[in-house]
Amino acid sequence: MTFPLRIALIGAGHMGRQHYQHLLQVPAARLCAVADPGPGAAEFAAECGVPHFTEHRRMLDVAQPQAVIVANPNNLHVATALDCLAAGVPVLLEKPVGVHLDEVRELVAASRGSGVPVLVGHHRRHNPLIARAREVLAEGALGRLVNVTALWQLQKPESYFDVPWRREPGAGFLFTNLVHDLDLLRYLCGEVVQVQAFTSNTVRGLPNEDSAAILLQFENGALGSLTGSDGVAAPWSWELDSGESPVYPRQYDQPCYLLAGTQGALSIPQLQRWHYAEPGAGWHQPLLRGSETFTPGEALRLQLEHFVRVARGEEQPLTDAADGGRTLALIEAVREAAASGRACAPSRIV
Ligand SMILES: NC(=O)c1ccc[n+]([C@@H]2O[C@H](COP(=O)([O-])OP(=O)(O)OC[C@H]3O[C@@H](n4cnc5c(N)ncnc54)[C@H](O)[C@@H]3O)[C@@H](O)[C@H]2O)c1
Repeated sequence: MTFPLRIALIGAGHMGRQHYQHLLQVPAARLCAVADPGPGAAEFAAECGVPHFTEHRRMLDVAQPQAVIVANPNNLHVATALDCLAAGVPVLLEKPVGVHLDEVRELVAASRGSGVPVLVGHHRRHNPLIARAREVLAEGALGRLVNVTALWQLQKPESYFDVPWRREPGAGFLFTNLVHDLDLLRYLCGEVVQVQAFTSNTVRGLPNEDSAAILLQFENGALGSLTGSDGVAAPWSWELDSGESPVYPRQYDQPCYLLAGTQGALSIPQLQRWHYAEPGAGWHQPLLRGSETFTPGEALRLQLEHFVRVARGEEQPLTDAADGGRTLALIEAVREAAASGRACAPSRIV
């Protein structure tokens, strides 16, 4: 008989508590400890019926978890994960994997050197609709991918910024939100070789950007754009369109990604596919529209189940530290391009 994997939570804020809700639904795992120095964390641990620690290294020593979920602020991710790897404990590390490429390279080396896995929490990759979109692309149903249009346009309430770290460097919407979209674009469309970008903070006037327009050149030759803002009253974003989380009222009919190739096009999350009936047809013939089907599933739950298998050594991480690092390198290229006004290539993470 296999006992449930004993998982500790480091960082029991908004995201950590979401992970806990999913842990309750996964029989193969159970929470064994909470480490968080913040207000309310001890009470939360008591509600969960597990010991509370204010410091994660002491928690690793005393509670001896078999795996950890790290959901503390972005700039603590790598240092925390390194401590877990040093203790031999597999990590599900929230995104972004880190905030500097050098620290991420250190994490990649530590994970490879120790053989202890890191799964980066790019949970959208685990959504069955993304898996189906990836299959459609791999089957060649769109022909050669030519244009990629991505939108992340929504309104965060002002109260979101009451949490101090969300106003500080390292927590802007590039690191916190567009990191998801850029990761998915890499996952679906392949690596990006060059970007150009404008960013702006004129909606809120905080140190971090609140709006961006990004041009992407993919390794396979496709050209893309991603326009985003967290300060616009608009319905085009994964959060509002995908229905992945019930906390966001859903805009069923609005897409956030549009992929166009020589033989067809695909909208996401609707998974509507357009194509012509005959090869060689063009704008005078009707475009046919069909829907791709898939069995829905909860991405965070599926990610957690995958993490249990990763921690038990049964699977390789779908997004390891190096892969998460490549998404971070893309973010850094966007920031550099916006600051310099030049086209920039993402740094290589091998
Ligand atoms: N995957 C997603 O869709 C998603 C969504 C939201 C947030 N996140 C990520 O989750 C992480 C947390 O974000 P959040 O919105 O939950 O923030 P939050 O502020 O609600 O929670 C962060 C928690 O970390 C705790 N903390 C601070 N220092 C700590 C330390 N040294 N050790 C342990 N805990 C510490 C805080 O007390 C707080 O409880 C971030 O990295 C964020 O990017 C991911």
